[in-house]
Amino acid sequence: MVEKFKTKPSLFLTRNLPGNGVEKLSEYFDVSVNPEDRVLEKNEIISHIRDKEALLCLLTDTIDKDVIQAAPRLKVISNYAVGFNNIDIIEATHRKIPVCITPGILTDTTADLTWALILAVTRRIIEADAFTRNGLFTGWSPSLFLGLDVSQKTLGIVGLGRIGAAVAKRASGFDMKVIYSSRSKKEMVGAEQVSLETLLKTADIISLHVPLTKETHHLIDEHQFQLMKKTAYLINTTRGAVVKESALLNALKKGEILGAGLDVYENEPQILEGLTALPNVVLLPHIGSATYETRTKMALLAADNAIAIIKGQKPHAIANPEVL
Ligand code: DGY
Repeated sequence: MVEKFKTKPSLFLTRNLPGNGVEKLSEYFDVSVNPEDRVLEKNEIISHIRDKEALLCLLTDTIDKDVIQAAPRLKVISNYAVGFNNIDIIEATHRKIPVCITPGILTDTTADLTWALILAVTRRIIEADAFTRNGLFTGWSPSLFLGLDVSQKTLGIVGLGRIGAAVAKRASGFDMKVIYSSRSKKEMVGAEQVSLETLLKTADIISLHVPLTKETHHLIDEHQFQLMKKTAYLINTTRGAVVKESALLNALKKGEILGAGLDVYENEPQILEGLTALPNVVLLPHIGSATYETRTKMALLAADNAIAIIKGQKPHAIANPEVL
């Protein structure tokens, strides 16, 4: 049996989580939780973590240099997400603070949601639902809400990590050709690695799965939209800033592509004015991992990661392993 701490280290949780991750944390930490169900401002996070040894935060929290420097006792940052672009990883690494993340467990859930977006936009599900609810359905019609088939088409996966591969795997049920681009050489049975340029030129559905880094910021801008087929759809379930949102809006308006399915936005939660007016875009509020099962598992994993660090053990997943 693992010995628990006599005097528990302090932990601040920036927002309450589903499941019993907080109970688990409380076995090892003196936990304080943001009492309100809202994103805290940076200065509020700072005031809460000044004296804390651990931080469990969300992808909506900005944990930049100022925040990290304001917490001299901080020994672990556990992010309730697989992405960690909300954290100044260089500053955390400089301070030798492990930044833990939650990969793996949200792969299938996010891949499913990606497919929900693909089918929703290509088959115009949202428009058709609104039409039906509004009492406009007066009878079957040969050209009512025509969309495009996904079966037999080409799916282009940008970034063949866990989620990209899971999205690709689901395409076999639709007899699709799968191509992917990746910075490193990767193998996937039944899929072909191509350059990003070839992918953009040939895919019917382009799905983004690269993490947001300096290199991938605005990976898809005006130039990339010009390469795409006029009948292409862009799907983004990774991070909004991988796409230059103003270029996407222009591409949609000018008919450079046929539609888009978005779960994430460049300046979340703000959405570029103009996008919401377009019928050929499906817009979701960043719910890629939002199932009871997955969000509960994420809470337990984020808790386990923080506990492992405080016990001097290896966490399940860490973004800056060099600090261990
Ligand atoms: C993540 O974990 O990075 C996801 O965006 C959460 O849905």
